Amino acid sequence: MAALPRMLCASALALLLWAGFCSSVCVEVPSETEAVQGTDMKLLCISCMKREEVTASTVVEWFYRPEGGKDEPIYEYRKTNHEFPSRFSGRIQWNGSKDMQDVSITVLNVTLNDSGIYTCNITREFEFEIHRPLFQSSRLIHLTVVEEAGEDFTSVISEIMMYILLVFLTLWLLIEMVYCYRKVSKAEEAAQENATDYLAIPSENKENCAVPVEE
Ligand SMILES: *[C@@H]1O[C@H](CO)[C@@H](O)[C@H](O)[C@H]1NC(C)=O
Ligand SMILES: *[C@@H]1O[C@H](CO)[C@@H](O)[C@H](O)[C@H]1NC(C)=O
Ligand SMILES: *[C@@H]1O[C@H](CO)[C@@H](O)[C@H](O)[C@H]1NC(C)=O
Ligand SMILES: *[C@@H]1O[C@H](CO)[C@@H](O)[C@H](O)[C@H]1NC(C)=O
Repeated sequence: MAALPRMLCASALALLLWAGFCSSVCVEVPSETEAVQGTDMKLLCISCMKREEVTASTVVEWFYRPEGGKDEPIYEYRKTNHEFPSRFSGRIQWNGSKDMQDVSITVLNVTLNDSGIYTCNITREFEFEIHRPLFQSSRLIHLTVVEEAGEDFTSVISEIMMYILLVFLTLWLLIEMVYCYRKVSKAEEAAQENATDYLAIPSENKENCAVPVEE
């Protein structure tokens, strides 16, 4: 009888554990597309590896295209980091992860002129095989640099919603666990009561029998 509450408890626990572990899972989050001038802007580029890509080596190329202009290479990762001479010279920092799933760069001290389209091209190739399959992926970031941080209403709303959701989920988990615990202990109590009831019934019957005898 206690199997169902136990299962619920187990799943609640599993949910908690999963929430703890899920931070290490690769998720292809898109980059922010608005920057404030004078700040450092991280251009997020994440390309999660598939199973067959794990043994491949990764080449990353970053391009910048001003409005109505051409793509020009600004940064490259090919075993080592290389910055191309451009108007970004000295302002780009590698901000990727060791496993090369996150190949982001950070542009320091962005100016209004840095608005434009950034392309992140990722090529994964096998080095030691005769047949060298390539895996390519490409991300576009349409960046707008603004003079001042504006009150972004929608982002404030979504942030508030996120916190409400977090609080709600936490409460729900707690309630669920308390409920599970109660149900399990009640089921155990009930089991014990059943045992005593079983013993009590014959004595009641005796009393009932005793009444007519008295007359
Ligand atoms: C990546 O960027 C974050 C925030 O901008 C910074 O804290 C971190 O040190 C950077 N990592 C590298 C390797 O540059
Ligand atoms: C950022 O850039 C502006 C103009 O390009 C310059 O005046 C300023 O000193 C820079 N700030 C930093 C912290 O490098
Ligand atoms: C921005 O770009 C324009 C043309 O590309 C150039 O004339 C101007 O000097 C640049 N401004 C800054 C602050 O770099
Ligand atoms: C980036 O890669 C895509 C294909 O994945 C290609 O079409 C595009 O031309 C590349 N961008 C640049 C600037 O080389």
